[in-house]
Amino acid sequence: MSDEAPSPSPKLDSVIPYARQCIDETDIQAVVSALRSDYVTQGPRIVAFEDGLREATGARYAVAVSSGTAALHLSCLGLDLRESHFGVLPAITFASTANCLRHSGSDVAFCDVDPRSGLATVDAFRTAIESFVGPQELGALLPVSFSGAVPDLEAIARLAAEKGAYVIEDAAHSMAATYRTSDGSTSRSASCSHSDAAILSFHPVKHVCAGEGGAVLTNDETLARRLRRLRSHGIEKGEAWTYNQIELGYHYRLTELQAALGASQLEKLDGFVDRRRVLAARYAAAFEQEPFRSRIRMSNRDEGSSWHLFVIHFADEGERRAAYDFLHARNIRAQVHYMPVYRHDYYRKVGHASLPGAEAFYRTCLSLPLYPKLEDEQQDRVIAALEAFLERREQ
Ligand SMILES: Cc1ncc(COP(=O)(O)O)c(C=O)c1O
Repeated sequence: MSDEAPSPSPKLDSVIPYARQCIDETDIQAVVSALRSDYVTQGPRIVAFEDGLREATGARYAVAVSSGTAALHLSCLGLDLRESHFGVLPAITFASTANCLRHSGSDVAFCDVDPRSGLATVDAFRTAIESFVGPQELGALLPVSFSGAVPDLEAIARLAAEKGAYVIEDAAHSMAATYRTSDGSTSRSASCSHSDAAILSFHPVKHVCAGEGGAVLTNDETLARRLRRLRSHGIEKGEAWTYNQIELGYHYRLTELQAALGASQLEKLDGFVDRRRVLAARYAAAFEQEPFRSRIRMSNRDEGSSWHLFVIHFADEGERRAAYDFLHARNIRAQVHYMPVYRHDYYRKVGHASLPGAEAFYRTCLSLPLYPKLEDEQQDRVIAALEAFLERREQ
């Protein structure tokens, strides 16, 4: 018999990522059955997945594509954004939200965000529109849901209507989230109640995983038909073997394997979001106590959020970096969402102005592990590590 101390339980020291997919046996069986079927692409599972997406969002049409980025690109093309346009989006988002405009030839204007929530207000959109210098006309506003919370889409849609622009809602973070409208009712993110198109992502860190994948939602039948054509080279099928390329499209299709996984995951969406809400409430309850209360701030908590991320803020950049390293050394992978997009070299070359709310948000934010499979004791490990960090810094 060895007298060595027993090795700690894997749960106590295994790596805790900031996010990960939640795949079970029914998902695996769904993919296996797609593999055994007659179609591995362009078959009935895509249609079933799109039906599920319509039901989950409340939008009339869903067009599944190969990624959230492809969904953004096709939305811009489908709405005819081009070189003569510019689009406005918040500086705190993933690069794709800006890139889709560049892919369609349009120029990009960044608007500031509220440093507490990371969301852009309607006033921030207005300021960005009014301070844009360039010959291009406003083509679209691209409000982004951050961390699972939805911006004031109703007010942003009103501004877009006043300016004659489209609204493309980036709902990659906010599947199943709701937001309040001025009449006191609630709307679902990606329902397109206040947008011309909305996009979702099915990357593994998101609410629903398809390996990779995305979708455009819309209530506009003509746009939906065009998006279907654009995702498949711009081609429309004709009689018998004939087909005709009407316009220049892309190959942005999803496979049946991805659609099978996505559809199976959709069945569990409510459970996933419920678990994210429980975990978010557990973090919040802990952080309302000392030593957290006076040392970290939680991003504004929105009742309708579907909690893609749980973001906290430290006193300054140095403290955030030290916390990141401290957690990392203990196998806890926190993450930073996001560096303002205009700071990337590609956008820096164009010379976008720095925005104070986005800078303040970026300097101090840290996203803590949050995903349905995160167990209570793993979350407790994250909380205990943060507590140890704060106590050590105090000495
Ligand atoms: C806000 C936002 N928009 C768009 C995307 C792009 O989605 P995808 O990775 O599926 O292309 C992401 C993905 O990280 C995102 O977070």
